[in-house]
Amino acid sequence: MLKLAAAFSTLAAFAPFVASQSAVWGQCGGIGWSGASTCASGSVCTYSNAYYSRRCTLTVGTGSGGGGTAPSSTVSSPSPTGSGGLPVGTSTSKLNTVAKAAGKTYFGTATDNSELTDAAYTAILDDNTEFGQISPANSWKWDATEPSQGDFTFTQGDAILSLAKGNGQLLRGHNCVWYNQLPSWVNSLSGSALSSAMVNHCTTLLTHYKGDTYSFDIVNEPFNDDGTWRTDVFYNSLGTSYVNTVLTAARTADPSTKLYINEYNLEYPSGKSDSMLSLVQSLQAADVPLDGIGFQGHLIVGQVPTTFQSQMEEFTALGLEVAITELDIRMTLPATAALYEQQKTDYQNVVAACNAIEKCVGITIWDFTDKYSWVPSTFPGSGAALPWDSNLVKKPAFDGIVAGFA
Ligand code: G3I
Repeated sequence: MLKLAAAFSTLAAFAPFVASQSAVWGQCGGIGWSGASTCASGSVCTYSNAYYSRRCTLTVGTGSGGGGTAPSSTVSSPSPTGSGGLPVGTSTSKLNTVAKAAGKTYFGTATDNSELTDAAYTAILDDNTEFGQISPANSWKWDATEPSQGDFTFTQGDAILSLAKGNGQLLRGHNCVWYNQLPSWVNSLSGSALSSAMVNHCTTLLTHYKGDTYSFDIVNEPFNDDGTWRTDVFYNSLGTSYVNTVLTAARTADPSTKLYINEYNLEYPSGKSDSMLSLVQSLQAADVPLDGIGFQGHLIVGQVPTTFQSQMEEFTALGLEVAITELDIRMTLPATAALYEQQKTDYQNVVAACNAIEKCVGITIWDFTDKYSWVPSTFPGSGAALPWDSNLVKKPAFDGIVAGFA
């Protein structure tokens, strides 16, 4: 330790006399960097991340043997490891660019209003070559837009609209009818009063965003995993017909957006996926408008169903489009290099499943950085589910996504 301190002070003392070199721990590369790209003697320029891509790190040994390696001031290749010795993503491709080159309509991400003050975050979010589509994670939901009956507020929702419009990004509306994040006043209604409130909510929401969305999750998570209907206020009071009613109202409110039913755990055959297929067939038989099924894709590292593609094809065979709408692949913490590599494979396989289906129009990840993932608070002990880590450094999962579009 003393030797390291001595080495550091020696190097620091030299720095002022080597104007064309960056000091130890100084920046020596990265997007927008025009300063020195060589390092003070005894340190080496090392990859950190794209925007602060290189720092001069000490090459002197810190072990008991002391001494140091030969001074070097060359720029090294991007390091394959990041913080904690975990591997990093190294692809320089952009996700929306590769998705569109593969014939998809978009590659996108969810985001939330509270994250938009994070400049390092928005620098990535705003890049429409990375993300061609945005989903509002919370601010278009019922509790956010109509907290008390008839009292609509779109301030937060409109901030997401402005962001996407300003960036030239598509929007997926999320969502209209869902049992969760439902203001309590809705739960106190029944019968025609409930039906009117539901139609009014969705009509007002879709009218406000008329012409602004590519698609819209009109009904979210209507089934239990065993395929029985979720016994929320809508089903309990109105029966299955609430789906017909609200889809019809949505089409009238905005004929230009694609109407989706969005659900999790459809990625493998189950009672839930059987019920969703039956629902689609009954809606089609009754001429109820429906354009797509959203496969949320909240998955677990090492447990990604091999049936994902065939499950999506069950719905495209009925004439619908499909999209992966909320993709994340979580792991049990702490993250390890092996888990990161498995996650890369998992992301690649999921993306490849969509890529293989012409009518799988796009993929949305449920935010892009572990910094803002919903996973750790809902599944304590799990996390690291997204392709950027919490320091906004790309993980191998990023490379997996790129490979999945190849
Ligand atoms: O807005 C309040 C804030 O005022 C309060 O101080 C804070 C204290 O906990 O809570 C804030 O609300 C949180 C909200 O996100 C906004 O940040 C809620 O507690 C929290 O439960 C809520 O979580 C959201 C979750 O849906 C609710 O079910 C996640 O952010 C959101 O990513 C997640 O998204 C869902 C999709 O809509 C549907 N599919 C599943 C997916 C993951 O759960």
